[in-house]
Amino acid sequence: MPHDVAASEEMFIKHFSDPEKVATYAEGPRRYVPGLEALHTMTGLLLAERAPADARVLVLGAGGGAELAAMARAYPGWSFVGVDPAVEMLRLAEQVVGPDMDRVELVEGYIQDAPTGPFDAATCLLTLHFLPEPERIETVRQIHERLRLGAPFIAAHSSFPQEEAARDRWLDRYASYPVAMGADPEQVRQAREAVAASLNTFSPERDEAVLRAGGFSDVELFYAGFTWRGWVSYA
Ligand SMILES: C[S@@+](CC[C@H](N)C(=O)[O-])C[C@H]1O[C@@H](n2cnc3c(N)ncnc32)[C@H](O)[C@@H]1O
Repeated sequence: MPHDVAASEEMFIKHFSDPEKVATYAEGPRRYVPGLEALHTMTGLLLAERAPADARVLVLGAGGGAELAAMARAYPGWSFVGVDPAVEMLRLAEQVVGPDMDRVELVEGYIQDAPTGPFDAATCLLTLHFLPEPERIETVRQIHERLRLGAPFIAAHSSFPQEEAARDRWLDRYASYPVAMGADPEQVRQAREAVAASLNTFSPERDEAVLRAGGFSDVELFYAGFTWRGWVSYA
């Protein structure tokens, strides 16, 4: 792993390991990601098109527990393996999932640390945009390796046009939403700056190519909210 890649990854893990940041984590995605609740509902519905009633579902980047809680509530027959390198975010997931934790196994680590499966479905929400391309492809490939043939995978994260003028326009829109939702404008300004400085923001076309390079086919966009996109694809 090149030095700068390791450093950027380390920075995000540090962020998601800070107890103060983790305590207020749930507010963030709700304010920053338009239609987050609908994204969770659609994720469940798309997985359920192919997954059996007793599906075993791999959830990568499971920290915070939001999608685990939503899917566990909606699909009482499903069980989950949630994987995340940030232990504080896993503790928060335990609280958020609450009574459904008896169907959830949490693993502290990366995709390499996940059980080999085979799983009936997988998700990776609001996470892959942290990874540089080689690591993103390898992570997607390792998710693919753990799925049954034809199983659905949902990826949703930051992904928007990268040509200079368009990038700025979409970053402004990215920032306008949380401000409208009541977030502190100074914090939003800092968040916009961080996303603008990131070398890991990809165009939707490049993200779709990553999914295909990782082995997935029939990649379909099902969700777009300003700078956020979601795809369903199949192993
Ligand atoms: C913005 S949070 C999203 C959490 C959750 N999926 C959600 O939608 O609320 C990103 C999570 O990804 C985790 N993460 C960062 N790099 C990761 C990696 N390489 N593999 C798995 N998880 C990672 C972080 O620790 C953090 O918990």
